[in-house]
Amino acid sequence: MSFELRELNGGIGREIVGLDLTNGISPETSAALRQTWLEYGVLVFRGMGTSPEVQLELSRCFGELEPHPIATFRHPDYPDLILLTNEGGPVGPVYDFGDGPVTQRIPWHTDLAFMTTPNAGALLRMVRKVETGGQTGWLDTAAAYDELDQATKDEIADLEAVYLFRAGLEEMRFNQQGGKRLSPRKENYPHFPPVANPLVWTHPETGRKVLNVSTLNIEYIIGRQDEAGDALIRRLIEHALQPRFQYVHEWENNDMVLWDNRRTMHAAFGHPLDQIRVVHRTTIKGDVAMGRVLPETGTAEVVA
Ligand SMILES: [Fe+2]
Repeated sequence: MSFELRELNGGIGREIVGLDLTNGISPETSAALRQTWLEYGVLVFRGMGTSPEVQLELSRCFGELEPHPIATFRHPDYPDLILLTNEGGPVGPVYDFGDGPVTQRIPWHTDLAFMTTPNAGALLRMVRKVETGGQTGWLDTAAAYDELDQATKDEIADLEAVYLFRAGLEEMRFNQQGGKRLSPRKENYPHFPPVANPLVWTHPETGRKVLNVSTLNIEYIIGRQDEAGDALIRRLIEHALQPRFQYVHEWENNDMVLWDNRRTMHAAFGHPLDQIRVVHRTTIKGDVAMGRVLPETGTAEVVA
């Protein structure tokens, strides 16, 4: 094989070692990388992301790329690359958790959990790292499901939950982060209707069951909009967030990390606002829906 695997110091993923990305990727290597991605959920390519071209070619091994829907987030020279940087101002809200202004702190979530069709994956390349903070974590929602007790698996097998877009951490109902919002709330986000997605989803490619509790977005369990339902969500989140399911990456420049968004959650730890960080991201398009859009006539009486 044209690469080897190395265990990571955590509960998910593998490091890819010995892969030469400087002379193109053969179809055989591409297929092997894709299988490895599906098997392990997170792949780390240390120091291999030496250019946008390398990142784009590697990303295309895993599926069709999805440019950012908002043009200003696209890299001006590479429209399939998403430019994430606080150079020129913070990208998202700024908070103070007690140590000064922090940007890019995003709690555990699955991308697009507030929509019916999650993207298949994404790949980050560190262009300019920060000296303080800035880690990214991933956790394995397939392993988290597997390790639930049978009674809980039976209880949640057919449940759906409502997931919402959040414009700020203060809107989260679960896994609350605290902290004081320093930047004003923008009102110009697109409107996203509420969706109902299953608490347990079957991965469309591997067939593994995954625990779907994106902490940023989950609102309530349909038919159990009461304290017992909320307690169940809290218990599932507490289970999923155990460190043994997690891998946390300490970035070096040119590192790339790829994840399968359908069997992971990830979290951005954030960094001081006065340090500049530059990340290039590609998103791998998803094409399998897990849930449904809900009518917006008040959500309390929605039934499955
Ligand atoms: Fe994300």
